[in-house]
Amino acid sequence: MASTRKPAPKAPWQIWRDGSGRLSPLRLLTLALLLAPVAIAVYDFNTEGFGARPINNVIHRAGYWALLFVMIALAVTPLRRIARFNQLADVRRMIGVGAFVYAASHILLFVADQKYDLGKVASEIVLRVYLTIGFVALLGLTALAATSTDGMVRRLGSKRWQLLHQSIYLIGVLVLIHFFQQTKADIWLPTFVAGLFGWMIGYRGLIKLRKARSEPPAWALAVLTLIVAVATFAAEAVGIAIAFNTSPLRVLETALEFDLDVIRPGWVVLAAGLLVVAVDLVRSRFARPRRPAAAPAPTAGQRAPEMA
Ligand code: HEM
Repeated sequence: MASTRKPAPKAPWQIWRDGSGRLSPLRLLTLALLLAPVAIAVYDFNTEGFGARPINNVIHRAGYWALLFVMIALAVTPLRRIARFNQLADVRRMIGVGAFVYAASHILLFVADQKYDLGKVASEIVLRVYLTIGFVALLGLTALAATSTDGMVRRLGSKRWQLLHQSIYLIGVLVLIHFFQQTKADIWLPTFVAGLFGWMIGYRGLIKLRKARSEPPAWALAVLTLIVAVATFAAEAVGIAIAFNTSPLRVLETALEFDLDVIRPGWVVLAAGLLVVAVDLVRSRFARPRRPAAAPAPTAGQRAPEMA
């Protein structure tokens, strides 16, 4: 006989349980993803150590993962819609709060690296533009994390909450500028992440253009991918040309030659975008038609409304 036992009520810290108190494999997987950077750091420390400047090493790691989790949180909506996998929305908040935790650790480690001299920390943040930008991004992430609870969603109201949480795009821009400015030599990674970020903003634009909540067609996603890939090539060429005082066209010529030894970020952005198009084609063929998603104000126990 099927069990009619109700799941145990969920305590707020039991983030591996869903809104109805059931153990959620997706939440467990997300928790593992959020803790993976710590496991990687422990492994690296035990195998090769953290080098001559261990705190600086961990500052870089925490900043890198904070940025990555901001981008993954932003990717949830496109992936959820394109892969027709609505459950993903349930873990977006966890990923966003995870990004905040890594960003907060990044700054605390920076304070430790400055020997807890808060005057020096403040003057560094005021005097170095890339740190000022990082600080503003951190304030933004703090506001989003502080308003991520169901209680805050109800208190602010669905519309105002969504408006506030749209600022994640601005925070993404600030963090990318911070990342670019502190990168001294190789801009491969910041350029690649900026390309993916550009794709996600473009996707958001496509949805806004289509007033109905239907999915943009695969051809529109393919055109978006092409535009963003070309923009990534162009942006990288201009960046390198400015850094090395050379012609952007010459850099672009070399970048467009496909070289397996140094695959330029534009190519990887193109491949990632085309993969998404393929997922869309497969899912639109085999998935059941999606119900249009309304965004009512949540009640207790429901997840936060659609954002970003
Ligand atoms: C007050 C705020 C912040 C301070 C003081 C700060 C400080 C720093 C410092 C000192 C570095 C290393 C620079 C170097 O070694 O030359 C760095 C790198 C970085 N920071 Fe921040 N940061 C702040 C905010 C943020 C935030 C909010 C994020 C992301 C959400 C972030 C992401 C990064 C990234 C991705 C890097 C490069 C990591 C890498 O090399 O892979 N930072 N930051």
